Amino acid sequence: MKKIIVAIDGFSSNGKSTMAKSLAKQIGYVYIDSGAMYRAVTLYCIKCDLFENGRLDEQELHNRIKDIGIEFRLNDDTGMPDTYLNGENVESAIRGMDVSSKVSLVSAIPFVRYAMVASQQEMGKTKGIVMDGRDIGTVVFPGAEMKIFVTADPEIRARRRFDELRSKGDMETTFEEVLENLKSRDHLDQTRTESPLVKAEDAILLDNSYMTVDEQMQWLLEKFEQITTN
Ligand code: DC
Repeated sequence: MKKIIVAIDGFSSNGKSTMAKSLAKQIGYVYIDSGAMYRAVTLYCIKCDLFENGRLDEQELHNRIKDIGIEFRLNDDTGMPDTYLNGENVESAIRGMDVSSKVSLVSAIPFVRYAMVASQQEMGKTKGIVMDGRDIGTVVFPGAEMKIFVTADPEIRARRRFDELRSKGDMETTFEEVLENLKSRDHLDQTRTESPLVKAEDAILLDNSYMTVDEQMQWLLEKFEQITTN
């Protein structure tokens, strides 16, 4: 069967990575988490002390951007790709709070986006990929055959994130803090000048506020089948 590109964009904490991963597994495609790439650049900046008092030395990052090698390698245990930064597995390190609190700043820099988009486009050359992010259907692959824009009520997304934090042992963060952080990230993602989060005109909207994971999967597989058999 002809391979296509599946682009899944949307707001943070709406379960799109889980959805994209399961879809890729079901249809035998490669899953690429574009957010992980922005997170890896952020981790690089932290490791190389490019942040000082919360300010990033953009000039120095610009000088070094070509030295930042990001790749994905399959983890045999999880069956999913892990993120590598210059040869080192950083899959867990890029999910920490330090990276999360700085990544919006790094991902808004035009030359960073330019480098990441070029690399993402290279990964999609042979098709057969599911990529999730914020600008996949609009900037990275405007010609993607299947585009999904995922949204859900902010309170519901915050509740899911809050429950996840509690299940991981975080008993400190309050629900209100999670909700505020989520709203502020939504705002930053939507209002940045460079590639803001916006639904592509030809993307299919998926509001998963009241859907179970299984229902979403069913919905996605139906769309995939419709698109690939047409
Ligand atoms: O999906 P995530 O939370 O792991 O993404 C991390 C950050 O990177 C988030 O601030 C949004 C940004 N991002 C982006 O600007 N463009 C993408 N294609 C993917 C993520």
